[in-house]
Amino acid sequence: MDKLVITGGTRLVGEVTISGAKNAAIAILPATLLINGVCTLENVPNISDVKIYCEILQTLGAKITWLSENELTVDTRDINCMQAPLDMTSKFRASYYLLGALLGRCKEAVVGIPGGCNLGARPIDQHIKAFEALGATVDVSQGKITAKCEKLKANSIYMDIVSVGATINAILASVLAEGTTIIDNAAKEPHIVDVANFLNTMGADIRGAGTDVIKVNGVESLHGNTTYSVVPDQIEAGTFMLAAVASKGDLIIRNCITKHLESITAKIIEIGGNVDANGDKLRVWCDQRPSKANIKTLPYPGFPTDLQPQMGVVLSIANGTSIINESIWESRFQYTGELNKMGAKITPNGKTAVFEGVEKLTGAPIYATDLRAGAALIIAGIIAEGTTEVYNLEHIDRGYENIEEKFRKIGANIQRIKEN
Ligand code: UD1
Repeated sequence: MDKLVITGGTRLVGEVTISGAKNAAIAILPATLLINGVCTLENVPNISDVKIYCEILQTLGAKITWLSENELTVDTRDINCMQAPLDMTSKFRASYYLLGALLGRCKEAVVGIPGGCNLGARPIDQHIKAFEALGATVDVSQGKITAKCEKLKANSIYMDIVSVGATINAILASVLAEGTTIIDNAAKEPHIVDVANFLNTMGADIRGAGTDVIKVNGVESLHGNTTYSVVPDQIEAGTFMLAAVASKGDLIIRNCITKHLESITAKIIEIGGNVDANGDKLRVWCDQRPSKANIKTLPYPGFPTDLQPQMGVVLSIANGTSIINESIWESRFQYTGELNKMGAKITPNGKTAVFEGVEKLTGAPIYATDLRAGAALIIAGIIAEGTTEVYNLEHIDRGYENIEEKFRKIGANIQRIKEN
């Protein structure tokens, strides 16, 4: 089992460059199935979720060629299968995008019930509702989801819950449908806009992405021969912003869209940190012990649930008592048990946790309970006194490119040890 060994007590100082967004890349890759051609993707994060998605696309008949570390072409001219291997698709959450994309392309899709981080119940009723509204029948049984239709026909879809995945899936399924689909109460996350921009570049007609009403005018086909660059990762940028504050450091964060980071910026300023936005870079620094704050996670543009654990580390050493209310996922405080092993005083109770700020954390062996929790625990190890060992790195590798190298370059004493 690999582990990260971190000798803590470091102030993070220097420059870090943000990679392409994981959550955009793993929606754009299946979206290529709607094209009958070749497209080039740039700024693709080199992470395990992307590699798994590439393998899945290959099993469907796509040809993937990596041109460099972060650039690849996808050739979808020979798609010959509408069933991705169940063991592969049930490994991670975003495999549900194959349903919308394959329905659009082949009028039939079969995927394993999606897995992913254990954040509590992760229903997909809104995805199914969208497919059914567009004329598909959906069957969930024997560990798989089967969606089929004669043809997809536009409709009005009202989302009962603001869901990132269901919004993207509704877009994917309606791009080639006959007529104009209206998606109401849509999610507004930056990667939804990115998927829509990608598809529009390929000839789709999607309007309103980034607002809560999205209109998709169905088109006959999409074309390839286009290059698209994936948006910078909002959550990775936020992770380094919060690492700067937690370590009382001073970081320049390059290749980010500062508008996507406003809710985090506001909270950092509230707790005594500083943020200076300049074009596509941010300087984030903090000269004092952060002060307490209350946080409620919300859909974009609210404070992102995917930065809640990283913010939890900051509040664990803040001056005073803070409360985090997690309104998106029912089970996202598992990391607090790991932080308490390091001397934090956090009391989780359902969707709320009380953070009684302590002066310092101390190193301990800790286990990443999910992807973002893993990033938070690395930050905890960097600011803690003594040595921390972080286990379960497979969670972290799913979504962060070269994470230990990026932290090492800004001063962290962090090493990956390979173990049997
Ligand atoms: C995406 C992100 C994930 C992030 C989350 C919220 C990807 C691959 N993952 O997950 O990192 O934490 O957005 O920003 O992009 N829900 C339903 N029925 C549904 C769908 C969702 O009840 O059909 C509920 C969920 O249980 C959850 C809430 O809606 O409480 C939001 O989920 P959703 O936005 O769909 O999250 P994901 O797209 O799975």
